[in-house]
Order: sequence, then structure tokens, then C-alpha cells
Amino acid sequence: MNALAQLVEFENAVQVLPFGHTRPSISIIGLGYVGAVSTACLAGLGHHVIGCDLDVTKTTQIAAGRSPIHEEGLEYLLRKGVARNLISTTTNVADAVANTDVTFVSVGTPTSEDGGCDCRSIVSAASAIGEGLRRKDSYHLVVMRCSVPPATTLNVMVPEIEAVSGLTMGEDFGICFNPEFLREGTAIADFDAPPKTVIGANDMRAAETLKEVYAPVDPDPLITSIEVAETVKYVDNVWHATKVCFANEIGRICKPLSIDSHAVMDIFVKDTKLNLSPYYLKPGFAYGGSCLPKEVRAVDHLASSLGVETPLISSLSKTNRIQIDEATKLIRDTGARKIGFLGLAFKAGTDDLRESPILEVMNTLIEEGFDIAAYDPAIQADTRVTEQFNYVRHVCPHLEPTVCALPELLRENLHQVFDECEVVVTTQRTREIQTLVASQLGRTQVVDLVHLFSEKPQFEGYQGIGW
Ligand SMILES: NC(=O)c1ccc[n+]([C@@H]2O[C@H](COP(=O)([O-])OP(=O)(O)OC[C@H]3O[C@@H](n4cnc5c(N)ncnc54)[C@H](O)[C@@H]3O)[C@@H](O)[C@H]2O)c1
Repeated sequence: MNALAQLVEFENAVQVLPFGHTRPSISIIGLGYVGAVSTACLAGLGHHVIGCDLDVTKTTQIAAGRSPIHEEGLEYLLRKGVARNLISTTTNVADAVANTDVTFVSVGTPTSEDGGCDCRSIVSAASAIGEGLRRKDSYHLVVMRCSVPPATTLNVMVPEIEAVSGLTMGEDFGICFNPEFLREGTAIADFDAPPKTVIGANDMRAAETLKEVYAPVDPDPLITSIEVAETVKYVDNVWHATKVCFANEIGRICKPLSIDSHAVMDIFVKDTKLNLSPYYLKPGFAYGGSCLPKEVRAVDHLASSLGVETPLISSLSKTNRIQIDEATKLIRDTGARKIGFLGLAFKAGTDDLRESPILEVMNTLIEEGFDIAAYDPAIQADTRVTEQFNYVRHVCPHLEPTVCALPELLRENLHQVFDECEVVVTTQRTREIQTLVASQLGRTQVVDLVHLFSEKPQFEGYQGIGW
């Protein structure tokens, strides 16, 4: 079935959805790629849509059912929406807001001169929204769709709307941040089958209103705070860019070796347990162990021996070192002198200490004169620590004094470490450590490197490394 046929089938399916009441009318500010597609697709869902733009060419084209951009299926939907009297346009944003229930904001947010985000269009759109809201006496929902730095919606947009309208967010009008994930070229198909729908809101009325709008295409949106939703959009795109650059660096390494980079990556992407999965993708402590540091160095070395530049892969060791230094700083900043480490191996369930990043932290603190105690259930007095160290001695010779001192630093159980120390550092996420740390919160300071608890404990003495 071609894309147009799919579109018609989808549209027909949507029309028979059993809505119990009228769909809210929607104004869309900014009729660029996002706004034009939203106008067409929301009309396709049966909403009355007023598209607004300062650019009269765009408003005229859309009002005539013509697409201002090249996008498969867009003109068809716009033409249908106009023919069904569901789409109209205006250059008067305030009028459009005053005459609708919900406003989507999709103005441009280009790069500013200093490399940040140019929010001028957002402020001018917010001001026009404020003007429109001043003329309304019913609840209105404003839905921010632009990609913006975290806190822009609440700190830039809302104050402008409130100042101009004299109204209060959360009472007179609601705010959602709803990131747009469409890909140009497949925008209509992405609207109909989104990779996810994220609704950032700080009150349920706002969230529920928007949830209902999206129900026909995604009945199960992810509801979160406005700041998380704003950040997700940036993080997604940085991740996509990371993937592109990573794959391209692999290609640059493979070509001079006459290795088929696509054969490599075809197998790479088939691994959805470790490669394309949540694994390794949560903020926490540095990577370590006997494989990752060694192989990152080896690939970096391979690339430079081939004369190939791979700045992404080459920067991994540096960013990993920064995480180790960050952990050391967090511990130092507690002001404690007696430090306890819960977990020594690079992960739980192994006695492999080779290039365990916590040894780097311990080593620095020992050199600075801190008192150290440690416990790891897998590491006992008879663990062959020296043998392990010999394997990595040439890459971390500075760790030798700490490795030699380990037998004296080891304690027999977690309780001994807690009894002796002013701060405990968690490096492994085990049930035993979770339970004991939870029972000691408020009594002993904690530097948590592994996100022990799904909710951040609200105790002054608790610090997470990235949360
Ligand atoms: N293009 C994409 O694929 C895409 C995908 C996801 C998110 N986004 C984000 O969505 C937002 C919009 O992107 P776009 O590509 O559609 O932008 P765009 O530049 O194509 O269109 C923006 C439109 O807003 C209009 N505009 C500017 N200020 C206005 C105002 N005060 N009142 C009315 N209209 C105004 C402009 O005339 C323009 O037509 C940006 O924040 C962008 O980062 C874009």
C-alpha cells in the first residue's frame, strides 16, 4: 500500500472514533514544517484549526489548500481540511487565540549569535497569546512545540503570557510542553505513528486536555514535567547526532582496512540487548573493567595508526576521566575525612578489579590523606589482586600503592564500613546496599554513584553523581 493510500485509510479510521463530545478548536502559531504538518494532521483528526503566521504567503497558500513546503501527503490533507471547512488561516495571532480552545506554538528557534537558542519568536508569540487570552473568559491550553533549552517554557514564555493577559497559569490557562519528533520527508506518517508522545505539564487539567487531542494516534502518552519534556527533545537529537557520528567514525576506520562497515553495523544493530537498548544509557559512574577501557584505547590507537580522525571515540577516555574526577570532588565536598566504599569491582557480582574506576577515586583520596574503608562481597583477603593488577600495571602504574594497601582497607561487611565512616560511597546497585543505605539515610552522608533509589532521597547528606 502506498503512503497516500495508508493516509486515506488512517483518516477514515480516525473519523469513526467514538468521541463523546466536540473536539477542541486549535490555533497553531508558526506555519513552518512543524506548524503546517500539525495544521493538516489535526484537521485530519476532525479539529477546527486556525493556522497563524506572520508570513502572508504561507497563510494564503494554506488557506487555499496548498502546501508551503515539500512534504509527502501534506497538500492532500490540507486540501481536504480546507474543503471540510476545518482549516482557516490568519496573520492575526491574538484573534486566532481568542477564537480557539487550544494554541500550539511552533515558531522558529534558530541558533542565536552566541550559539544558544534565539527565543525572540517565542516571546513575540507569547505576547500575542497574552493579548488573545485577555479577551477570553474560558479556560485555554497553550502547547509549546518548539525545541528550546530547559526552563524556557516556564521562565520565558509563561511570564510574557501572564504579563500581557493579566491571567495566571494553572488557574486561567494551562501550559504543556509537547516536543515534536517528526522527521521531514515522513512527517505525516510520523504524526500518525509517533515514536512516542511526550506531554510535559505541571497540572493534570492541562495534561488531560492534550492527552485527549492525541488519543486517536497515541492513547498512551508519556506524561512528565515540563522541564523533563524540554530536555528530552534536546537529548534525543544529540543522541541521533551521536549515532550518526559514531557510525561514520566506524566507517572511516573500516574503509582503509577493507572491512565492510555496513556488514559490521548490520550485526551491531541486531543486538538489542546491549547495543540498542537502555543498557549503558543511564547516568551513573565511569565505565571500567578489563574490556571497555582497553578496547576504547585499542580502537583509538588503530584509528590514529591509520591516520583516521575519530574525535568522538578518542574523547571517550577523557569524558570517563571527568566522571571519575567528579566523583572524587563530590566526596571531597562532603567535608568528611573517613570515607567508606561499598563495592570495589567495576560492577557487582565479579571480583575483577582491573581498571575499576573507583580505585582511581580511592587512590586520589589516599594521596590526599583521607581514611578509607571498603567492602565488596566478591573481594576477600585471598582475591588475587596483585595478579589482576599485573595485567593492567602499564596503563595505571600510579595505582600500585592503593592496590597494595587494599587488604588493610577491606572490612568484613557493610555494617563495619558504616560504623567507621562519615560518608559512604555506593558503587554497586545491590539489594543489600540499597537496604542498608535506606536505613541509614539522614545519619550517614551518602555519595551515590549508581542511582540506588528510583526517587531521589530528600536528605541533605545524600548526593547523586548526575541527579
Ligand atoms: N523542522 C523539523 O523537522 C522540526 C522537528 C521537531 C521540532 N522542530 C522545532 O519546531 C519549531 C518550529 O520548527 P520549523 O522547522 O517548523 O520552523 P520554521 O522556521 O520552518 O517555521 C517557523 C514559522 O514561524 C513563523 N513565526 C515566527 N515568529 C512568529 C510569530 N511571532 N507569530 C507567528 N508566526 C511566527 C515564521 O514565519 C515561520 O513560518 C522549532 O523550535 C524547531 O526546532 C522542528
